[in-house]
This record gives sequence, structure tokens and C-alpha cells, in this order.
Amino acid sequence: MDGPQGVIAALHAALGADADSDLLTDPELTITFGTDWTRRWSSRPLAVVRPADTRAVARVLSACAEQAVPVVPQGGNTGLVGGSVPHTDGSAVVLSLARLTTRGAVDRLGRQVTVGAGTTLGDLQRHAREAGLVYGVDLAARDTATVGGTVATNAGGMRVCRYGDTRAQVTGIEAVLADGSVLSRLDALPKDDAGYDLTSLLVGSEGTLGVVTAVRLRLHEPDPPGVTTLVGCRSVREALSLLPRRDVRLAELMTGAGLELTCEVASLPPPLPSRWPVYLLLETPDLPDLPAHAEAVVDGRLIEYRERHPAAIATTGVVHKYDVSLPTDDLDDVLAEVAEVVAPHRLYVYGHLAEGNLHLNGVGPAPADEQIDRDVLSLVAARGGSIASEHGVGTAKAALLHLRRSQAEIAAMRAVKSALDPRHLLNPGVILT
Ligand code: MLT
Ligand code: ZN
Repeated sequence: MDGPQGVIAALHAALGADADSDLLTDPELTITFGTDWTRRWSSRPLAVVRPADTRAVARVLSACAEQAVPVVPQGGNTGLVGGSVPHTDGSAVVLSLARLTTRGAVDRLGRQVTVGAGTTLGDLQRHAREAGLVYGVDLAARDTATVGGTVATNAGGMRVCRYGDTRAQVTGIEAVLADGSVLSRLDALPKDDAGYDLTSLLVGSEGTLGVVTAVRLRLHEPDPPGVTTLVGCRSVREALSLLPRRDVRLAELMTGAGLELTCEVASLPPPLPSRWPVYLLLETPDLPDLPAHAEAVVDGRLIEYRERHPAAIATTGVVHKYDVSLPTDDLDDVLAEVAEVVAPHRLYVYGHLAEGNLHLNGVGPAPADEQIDRDVLSLVAARGGSIASEHGVGTAKAALLHLRRSQAEIAAMRAVKSALDPRHLLNPGVILT
């Protein structure tokens, strides 16, 4: 049997008795797996498979390799760059890792834990807390985003300035390659230089080199309670000048337009008596040093104003997300230039100020325009910034990778891709065109 029916028969055989529950082919059910969080990308999957363990993932990938059918790995489907849904109708199998939710016992002394790729960030955080520890990566989508997805994109989130990004947490990995072979490096020793660091290579590879099925992660001792402060600022430059030099646990930037929209959509009261062009949300061990004229409020619940930004902005239309890193000088000028480029779309800005990782959100009445994407990202690259800071490259920015990476780097990436996935079946079109 050839074509889609052949693929479905092969997946049936791979899943055996579990196919009834683990294989979805009804378009009414599969379309939600084909539509991403932004609603900017939507295609009908050929089928969706939801295996419950690594062996079943391996059988599914071997079957797809035999059928030469592309596979799109998916976690909580909270991706923002078109990297976790198929690109054309009926072209690819979506491999959902959401059911790989095992949570190993926490190694309290070694401060590590192994979890399945489908564990949500929120469940991992609760699991760590029950053992008296914390997991260092945190973001607003914590109860939907999966650990596997955050590993695949090397997610950062709001605590990078305290704990580092996801790569800094990963000490071991289990992944299945395109041919169905399983790489397992979960017994992470503190020192181990035997060969290439495949763990690090797989982190941030966006499902293009292998499918992450489990990870061993570093945990941390909890901090003593800190102080959360929201400060009104006249400019991004001023917000940067208020960043404490050390011991900062969170430093989130918001702009007036986004904060006002978030208050309106989420029915939150204005957090400060006056309106400001820029707001800085800080968490520090003690009260931060602020100039006498600063308008600030201290309250642990202020994080809600920042966390509600993405959903509030998405209520106004299909958002074009520019997740960029910029050198921190001249940020005000760069943001003014970007606002001009995206016009007549509106620009909402928020992000992780300590790393210069800003999320520029273009949304507005005009239809989506990829020329605007190119112009914004070219401007960012010309200013020495990165076009992909923590959401990944996905399909959204694959054709623009040259803005940030040299020809030699892209050629090396192609060679790695071809070595591990010679027929380019894993997440084709993501990172590399
Ligand atoms: C965030 O920082 O809120 C996330 O990266 C998601 C987003 O940018 O929308
Ligand atoms: Zn972010």
C-alpha cells in the first residue's frame, strides 16, 4: 500500500494494540495538532501519533523512515515560530510527546531529576518543590509547555539572569534519531568527556536532529523570599540604568502600550498612579536602590502584569513575533526604528532585559506581511542583534538564518543535519530551508 494509507497502515503496525488510542486520523481531531499557538500556521497533519513510551516513539520513527514520511515532533504546542506544526496539508505525521510524563525520584544530594519529555514545566516545578528544590526555567505557559519543547528550543524564560537558559539545566538526554535508534545519556556523571557532546547538540535543535524523549535536569536550592518591585521609567535606557549589578533574580521590561492593553484585557487595575512609557519589573533579595523621583510599587503579585502580556496581545489579532537579542546600548533608538518598520501594525514590546532579549510583537489591521518580518529582522541583525533569542528559528526565520549565521556556519549545520537525518524527515524546513 502506498501514499497516506500506507503510512497509516505502517503506524498501526508500529503501535500495535495501542493504535486505537494512540493514532489519530480524524481531521476534526488532528487539526488542533496542526494549528500553532499564534494561529499564524495551520495545516492538516497526515496523522497524529501519541506514543506512551520511548520504545513506541522508536517504532513510530522507524515506520516513518521506511515510509519516507516527514515527522513533526510536538510537545505542548506553545511554539511561536511555526516549528511544531506541519507546513502543508496532509504532508507530515505529528509525533506528540505529550504522554511521556514520567517523573523520576529527585536526587536531593546531587540536585538532579530525570523526567519524560511530555512533563509540563509546571509539573516539573511542583515535583522539584516537593523535594525542597526548584527548577530554574520558568515562563508564563508553564502549565502547557512541555520540558521536551523547552529543551528543543533551548527556552530561556524569566529566570535566565538567575539560573541560565535550558541548556544550562540539562545534564543528560534520551532521544530517538530519524532511523529509530535511541541515544541514551541519562546517567550524567559530573565529569564525562567521552566523545562529542551530543546532549548539548540536541538542546536547541528544534526536533531537526532527534526527538527528545527524556531529560536529566539540574535543580537548585530555593532562594530566601525576595522583593518584587515595579518601577515606572522614562526610557529603556533609564530601565537599564536601574538594573542592579548583582543578585538580580528577574528583570522584565514592559512598555506602556502593552501594559495598558494587558490591564484592559485581564481586568487588572493600573499598577502605578502615573502612566509611564516603560516599566521595569525586578525581583531582588532586598529592596533595590532607586532614585528619589522613581515611582515604584512592591508586591509579589506584580508578575501577573508581565505574564499576561502574550495572551492579551493575541486577543488583538494574529501576532508576528520577533524574538530578538540586542546589544543593550541604543535600545530606545532601535525600538523606535522597529515601530516605524512595522507600521501600520502596532508594536508591543516586552522581554528579559538583563539579557537584552526583547519580544517585539507586531499586530494590526493589515494582513500578515513577510516583507515586514524581513525588514525588522534585517534591522536587528544590522544592529548586531540575534534574530532568534529563545523561541527558536522554526520555519518562520529559516530563510533568514543568514542574517545571523555565516555561510560556513550554515554549511556545517547542513552537514550535521544530513549526517543524523540523511533524508531530512525530522521537522523539515525548520532552522534550515
Ligand atoms: C515570554 O517571554 O512571555 C515568552 O517568551 C512568550 C512570548 O514572547 O510571547
Ligand atoms: Zn520570553
